[in-house]
Amino acid sequence: MWGREFMAQNLSEVLITEEQIKKRVEELGEQISRDYQGKEVILLCILKGACIFFSDLARAMTIHMQMDFMGISSYGNERKTSGIVRISKDIDSSITDKHVIIAEDIMDSGLTLSHLTKLLSSRNPASMRICCLLDKPERRECDITPDYCGFIIPNKFVVGYGLDYCGEYRNLPYVGVLKEEIYAEK
Ligand code: IMP
Ligand code: MG
Repeated sequence: MWGREFMAQNLSEVLITEEQIKKRVEELGEQISRDYQGKEVILLCILKGACIFFSDLARAMTIHMQMDFMGISSYGNERKTSGIVRISKDIDSSITDKHVIIAEDIMDSGLTLSHLTKLLSSRNPASMRICCLLDKPERRECDITPDYCGFIIPNKFVVGYGLDYCGEYRNLPYVGVLKEEIYAEK
């Protein structure tokens, strides 16, 4: 067994289907477009996890805007961040006086985004908001909440639609819960 079937057998359940994601991403795109009408917006993709969410969200947004990309890697194990963030690719354009919307895959402890928003604030954007596909509020270790959120999920390790385990599973078109035995093996 290989590919999609192999990935699917390592999941204990499909948490959010492709159809549910599509509908919700369209709603988010419409809401953000209403909120930012007439403003200079930069939609910022946090690589790699947000890549698929970002590209669907961008197409669901009807406003005039720019896109940019930031690569971050955080020190920690494969399932939990230490919150110490290293920038592997910085934004190419200036965000000063622009309205920044950060597109992220998931907010877990919140440490990554807390660190990142502090860093980006020092560049004086006109405003900055967070849009994440998934939120695990139970796991929060600092005082931060997303401004826009696709789905609130329970404290389970999920993969698919950009989210990975050891760099794999990102290309699943839905979000599933990874079986515990998969990461217990390592
Ligand atoms: P935080 O700093 O703890 O909020 O972690 C955010 C980062 O941890 C995300 O950008 C993901 O890369 C990763 N992460 C947290 N939970 C999950 C999960 O359930 N599946 C895959 N990656 C996750
Ligand atoms: Mg990530």
